Amino acid sequence: MDKEYNMIFKRKSFRKFNDSLKLTNEELHHINEKIKELIPLVENIEVKYKVVRRDETTCKRGEYCLLIYSEEKENYLLNVGYMFEQLDLYLASKDIGVCWYGMGKTEEAEYKNLKFVIMLALGKAEPSEFRKDYRKCKRKEIGETWSGVNGLETIAEVTKYAPSTCNTQPWRVICENNKLKIYRTTNIKSIMPKDKVPFYNSIDLGIFLYFLELALLYNHISFQRFLLKEENKANLIPIATYNLL
Ligand SMILES: Cc1cc2nc3c(=O)[nH]c(=O)nc-3n(C[C@H](O)[C@H](O)[C@H](O)COP(=O)(O)O)c2cc1C
Repeated sequence: MDKEYNMIFKRKSFRKFNDSLKLTNEELHHINEKIKELIPLVENIEVKYKVVRRDETTCKRGEYCLLIYSEEKENYLLNVGYMFEQLDLYLASKDIGVCWYGMGKTEEAEYKNLKFVIMLALGKAEPSEFRKDYRKCKRKEIGETWSGVNGLETIAEVTKYAPSTCNTQPWRVICENNKLKIYRTTNIKSIMPKDKVPFYNSIDLGIFLYFLELALLYNHISFQRFLLKEENKANLIPIATYNLL
């Protein structure tokens, strides 16, 4: 778990890939094996994937694209974010660069009756291409996303490095009495088309929940998680509550 936690500080979104480096068959095999082990956020949502060469998609970067397909059940976007962020962190540990690529399109809109959700661009990288000083990456101040921190400064600090669509960081956290309430704000300024915001920001929230849980576990804080019914209350959509034990 320590190794995975440390990848929070190493990972970054790869925008430039060194095309002279190639993934080996063994690395591709490990990717497939890792995907089988990803922990879902929600049980019983069917998720499938396909690794294709980049030129089979509109993606202009990476050697391969991992196309993710899912059943469209309640919380399926949170589930995709939560699951595949585990892969992002794992791939950083193997010096494989990744970029969540919401803009990417594929002609294969369906796979085994499941709908295409999002792709990740992948490619082998040099260790030196990963993030060197995470403190330098652009993120909101904790006070903008957390209300009350109550001794969870480290958790608030670490989780702010979660990747998100256009770096929107749509998570909002209310921390009170050993309880964390996680929301998605709908008050987002971004270049994303407005009608796409709930879709991509829900994936972002799934990614954030994974970062949050990893940071809590690393700091020996046990929790119970409850996913909530999404309802819009004054720009804040409830996502989950964590009871800290
Ligand atoms: C769901 C999702 C979709 C994304 N889509 C794109 C994309 O289409 N193009 C792109 O260049 N980056 C994309 N990103 C990467 C974000 O811009 C990036 O995570 C954010 O700017 C923070 O930077 P970092 O990941 O290097 O920490 C996406 C990230 C997420 C989580």
